[in-house]
Amino acid sequence: MKKGVKKIRVKLKNNPYTIFISDHLVKSIPSHIRKLNLGNFGIIITSPKVYSLYKSLINKTFKKSEYKVVVAADGEKVKSKEWLFKVIGQIVKSDSLNRKVFLVCLGGGTIGDLGGFAASVYKRGAPYVQIPTTLLAQVDASIGGKTAIDLKEAKNIVGSFHQPKAVFIDPVFLHTLPPKEFREGMAEVIKYGVIRDKNFFNFLKKNHKKVKNLAKAEILKVLNRCAQIKADIVEKDEKESKGIRTILNFGHTFAHAFEAGLKYKKISHGEAVSVGMICAGYLSYILDKSQEADAEKIKELIKLFSLPTKISFDHNKVYKALCYDKKFIRGKIRLVLLKKIGKVEVLEGISTKVVRSFLKILATSD
Ligand code: GLY
Repeated sequence: MKKGVKKIRVKLKNNPYTIFISDHLVKSIPSHIRKLNLGNFGIIITSPKVYSLYKSLINKTFKKSEYKVVVAADGEKVKSKEWLFKVIGQIVKSDSLNRKVFLVCLGGGTIGDLGGFAASVYKRGAPYVQIPTTLLAQVDASIGGKTAIDLKEAKNIVGSFHQPKAVFIDPVFLHTLPPKEFREGMAEVIKYGVIRDKNFFNFLKKNHKKVKNLAKAEILKVLNRCAQIKADIVEKDEKESKGIRTILNFGHTFAHAFEAGLKYKKISHGEAVSVGMICAGYLSYILDKSQEADAEKIKELIKLFSLPTKISFDHNKVYKALCYDKKFIRGKIRLVLLKKIGKVEVLEGISTKVVRSFLKILATSD
């Protein structure tokens, strides 16, 4: 084992696995995979962007006799039925009597979602590992086994829970990540502090410059802490059936409504989550669940990471989008609300009138 590799165990009864975190981990991934006995031929699904940046590292690390690289598409468009069947076609071509195949998802969240879903349906479940390359995928999407593709009607509408056999997180990839994408990931990082860990929230505030500059110790602390929190939550509620995993949606109900209300054009997911967390914080104060000062603290931290703290929107459109959300039941809504920094709760039965008026005030205030 390479010195300094942090190992976090996701202790699921039927699907336990390890998250490995270290800088310059990539070179040792094939030997870790070998020990997992997943098969004797790996199909690496990656994106054109990642492949163009890391072609020589990938080809040097993963031997041609044991791995094949499939370069899919960049961004959300890869999460389509067309790409699903192209990937499955590549698996079928490589699978044979003396070859047991497994998948390696090397890329951002969209590659992980597509590859994980392809693995979940191929022969009713093939093994796969995640090598996330964006901050968002490293701290969130690669851990916990949520896989999906999109239909034109909705994102993530065809999906499954299929846990990876291992997750390999190497901060080296973050050095080539565009700043906008880094900020997107930071919205989810801040979320972990808000929902579970006040000390981590304060750490982010104190060390925001070092984190932004990818200082080694600070960025490793961010990756370790987020992965640990996500692993703890997933262990307690693998399939999001007990209302525990739901807390990971803090700020996301508003975010999805902003994205849908603005037709995904004007706002990215991370930006929508930032404003969504601020909304959830202030709504919690209005509903007497938390102090106004805590909502202010969330806003301040979001600002430190150059994420937006407000957006202009049409409150009718956003309200309509909220109504289509599955958390909206018979005139009442379910939301994750703030109690204090480091603690949230899932509240059912919030009146739509309150939410509607709240959105109206937000949309019309400066
Ligand atoms: N990204 C939310 C979850 O994994 O449950």
